[in-house]
Amino acid sequence: MATIPSAVGKKRELSVVGKKLDLVDKLYQRSILPSVMKVARGERLSAPLVVDLDPTSFCDLSCPECISANILNDGQIERDRIEQLAEELAGSTVKAVILIGGGEPLMHKSVGKIIATLAGAGIRVGLVTNGTLIHRYIEDIAEHLSWTRVSMDAATARTHRIFRPSGRLQSVFPIIVENMRALAKKKKGTLGYSFLLMKRELPNGEITTSNYGELLAAGKLAKDIGCDYFEVKAAFDEGHFVLPASPQQTEELREQSRLLAQLEDDGFRVLRSSTFRSILDGKERIQPKEYARCLTAELRTTMTPSGVYVCPYHRGNAQAKIGDIRKEAFLDMWKRADSSIVDPRRQCQFHCARHDTNLELAKLVQVDFDEDQLVDDFDLFI
Ligand SMILES: C[S@@+](CC[C@H](N)C(=O)[O-])C[C@H]1O[C@@H](n2cnc3c(N)ncnc32)[C@H](O)[C@@H]1O
Ligand code: SF4
Repeated sequence: MATIPSAVGKKRELSVVGKKLDLVDKLYQRSILPSVMKVARGERLSAPLVVDLDPTSFCDLSCPECISANILNDGQIERDRIEQLAEELAGSTVKAVILIGGGEPLMHKSVGKIIATLAGAGIRVGLVTNGTLIHRYIEDIAEHLSWTRVSMDAATARTHRIFRPSGRLQSVFPIIVENMRALAKKKKGTLGYSFLLMKRELPNGEITTSNYGELLAAGKLAKDIGCDYFEVKAAFDEGHFVLPASPQQTEELREQSRLLAQLEDDGFRVLRSSTFRSILDGKERIQPKEYARCLTAELRTTMTPSGVYVCPYHRGNAQAKIGDIRKEAFLDMWKRADSSIVDPRRQCQFHCARHDTNLELAKLVQVDFDEDQLVDDFDLFI
């Protein structure tokens, strides 16, 4: 038998929330590994394990830095079709669905029904939301969702309005905070507060606006609300390259990150995304890749109103489109889909959260596993 790669047998001491970003560890779960091994050998799956699903491209906020700005407010998956799609997913081997956007998922009128259908079939459901409409679906969310992550990017209404403006006269920040407090009290899954580091600067590099200074205060607010975790991420430019921080900003962020760590306890974790770590570690903006095929694209897919794409980074990119869920049944679409369409050496030179997963998948081709080397399922959102 070949050598067992990195993740097996590694000491596991973090809570499930703490392991949320350990994407490589997640491959070795009992019900995941058989599919992972097939993909590592170059075989196709009858369905991906995880689906990112954008029910709609409509959004009630108009964030200037939104990575999906150029695909927003351009239709939704019609109600009949998405309710049928939820049934199709429920009848498939998909293990987890993330309701997300391009768009605000809670703006789709069928979202309560979608959640009930998926959860009723035992599929794990996660939600990425701007938080303004949680109150409309709070019972469904509290009862059925494995996790809810609210994109906040601020600790105050003033900064929230700058980076996440709404068309309303009154600030939506207090509404979102109240929604989160209410959800924190009744949720069965976990609740996260997400903070995307953003700044605006003049061509000479002078910073005009930034939310960096609110990072620690946002972490404290997250804990006070009753969140299970606070996630810090770095913003991308339109090409998905991490926006760099100056040496002085990096130093300030390191200090805030250190102080954030002091907030952690058994019920509250601070998660540092791979993009945030790339800033803290002073990594290059480019992440070169030597593999011609992204194997993760066979394990996960991204379904949106404008098409199905290999991953969220390539959402809306015609060169990475592998189907159209409005026109085809889910399994027919997947059977025809070519998940190898993207060449990461050329098309994914930015920091990709799945890079380590892809490197691990490449190592797995020659490996055999004994049952007792696998770990029990702890998080199916691989
Ligand atoms: C585009 S939003 C759509 C879902 C929902 N409306 C929301 O606001 O969370 C999905 C995710 O993209 C992230 N995002 C938005 N703009 C980004 C950027 N420029 N760089 C990196 N991530 C970004 C947000 O933080 C959020 O987690
Ligand atoms: S390697 Fe490329 S195709 Fe694969 S998940 Fe990353 S960005 Fe997407």
